[in-house]
Amino acid sequence: MCIGTETDLAKNRTFHITTFGCQMNEHDSEIMAGMLAEKGYEPVNTRDEADIVIFNTCSIRENADKRFFGTLGQLKHRKLEEREAFTVCVCGCMMQQQHIIDTLKSKYPWVDIVFGTHNLHQLPILLDNLYNENKKQIEVWQDGGEIVEGLPAKRLFKHKSFVNIMYGCNNFCSYCIVPYTRGRERSRRPEDIVTEVRKLASDGVKEITLLGQNVNSYRGCGEKCETDFTDLIYMLSEIDGIERIRFMTSHPKDLSDKLIDAFRNCDKLCKYIHLPVQAGSNDVLKAMNRKYTRESYLKLVKKIRTAVPSIAISTDIIVGFPGETEKDFEDTLDLAREVGYDSAFTFLYSIRQGTPAAKRTDQIPEEIKHQRFNRLVEVINSISAEKNREYRGTTQMVLADGVSRSKEGTYEGRTDSFKLVNFVGEPGLEGKIIPVKITDSNTFSLTGERE
Ligand code: SAH
Ligand code: SF4
Ligand code: F3S
Repeated sequence: MCIGTETDLAKNRTFHITTFGCQMNEHDSEIMAGMLAEKGYEPVNTRDEADIVIFNTCSIRENADKRFFGTLGQLKHRKLEEREAFTVCVCGCMMQQQHIIDTLKSKYPWVDIVFGTHNLHQLPILLDNLYNENKKQIEVWQDGGEIVEGLPAKRLFKHKSFVNIMYGCNNFCSYCIVPYTRGRERSRRPEDIVTEVRKLASDGVKEITLLGQNVNSYRGCGEKCETDFTDLIYMLSEIDGIERIRFMTSHPKDLSDKLIDAFRNCDKLCKYIHLPVQAGSNDVLKAMNRKYTRESYLKLVKKIRTAVPSIAISTDIIVGFPGETEKDFEDTLDLAREVGYDSAFTFLYSIRQGTPAAKRTDQIPEEIKHQRFNRLVEVINSISAEKNREYRGTTQMVLADGVSRSKEGTYEGRTDSFKLVNFVGEPGLEGKIIPVKITDSNTFSLTGERE
């Protein structure tokens, strides 16, 4: 069989990536797009236009799984009609589970390429194999192995970027699938991260968001294993051109005083923290294996607010964890009121096959879960609206991300505290950090005028 060169194979082939899930997945998709563009494949805006369709999946809740299978099913007709001219690839967290692979094999045998979270760097090779040898492949690694450095990424924004500092998770919260789909915790070497951020800065990036499932347990091994997360922040803050540093996500069980000090001492570290609490009842927190108590969490919030009174705090909350009583739930409502979150992501507990909580026999009926969910959202939204109201009349430095898709003629940007701001501005503001006077607010955003 004739083996074509890379450019031959990629020639005129277009691709589209659909991403489900969190920032990790978004960033993985940017890396896949970078690798494909480097090989000569061309990105297009819609699945219909693309010769290669890639789904980067998420498995965090059942509806994420369902949405993926629903969307994938829509491609069957086209695949059977166009055959070799149309390539379907699936990857991401769902693929790290055997029952998903089994479903794909039995119900979606027309899918061309399946790979997992640990070997996404293989995508170009898997495509080469398909086009050279007409070989359909399922290639999923069970473990992370060595971290692959130096992969290109095609960023969504010119002025801001995600930066992975670690992979995987060792926490095994009893409801969560991530430790099974992303493997054990592995930190990148600090010098590799610094090199990447320097390169980003020279390419015009002003804001970086450091990504990890629990950034507080970052342990960077250069010559010695002595760089912790806060050290890394200070190292990155020395890089000229980088003006804002954010991070996701911080586990409350091991957030250090050193990090809290960094919020005060490091101007570039944005005054915003996402601190998932998950529940306000000690019984539920224990059953979730979160390793902190309601009291220690509240103490931590107090410490952070004492150090930086203006800091914005957001959280994740799960409603309807197995065994959750009305009293447990009310403890969560109370905690949400006491903390006064700027915003919160609220989730209905979803059974994830293979996790300890899935085996529990005291699952909460859907109807009760939904009722509690609605009550929680009401509390959260009224606090968010109140918090946003406090911004009225202030002037905020806003990084302009681009023109708003929802409101014609307006820009969207973020304050240092991660509040979304809509404002009218002339073309060319994208990527600039500018003062905006806040004139109005609602539950989810602020409105302002350029100063
Ligand atoms: N590593 C991060 C969270 C990653 S997953 C952390 O520990 O904070 C994002 C959020 O999804 C979690 O914080 C949790 O609130 C939610 N989540 C995870 N598993 C879930 C499940 N089985 N059902 C409902 N929500 C879940
Ligand atoms: Fe999941 Fe817990 Fe790890 Fe977060 S810390 S990814 S919730 S296991
Ligand atoms: Fe993220 Fe979903 Fe995987 S939340 S880590 S893409 S399971």
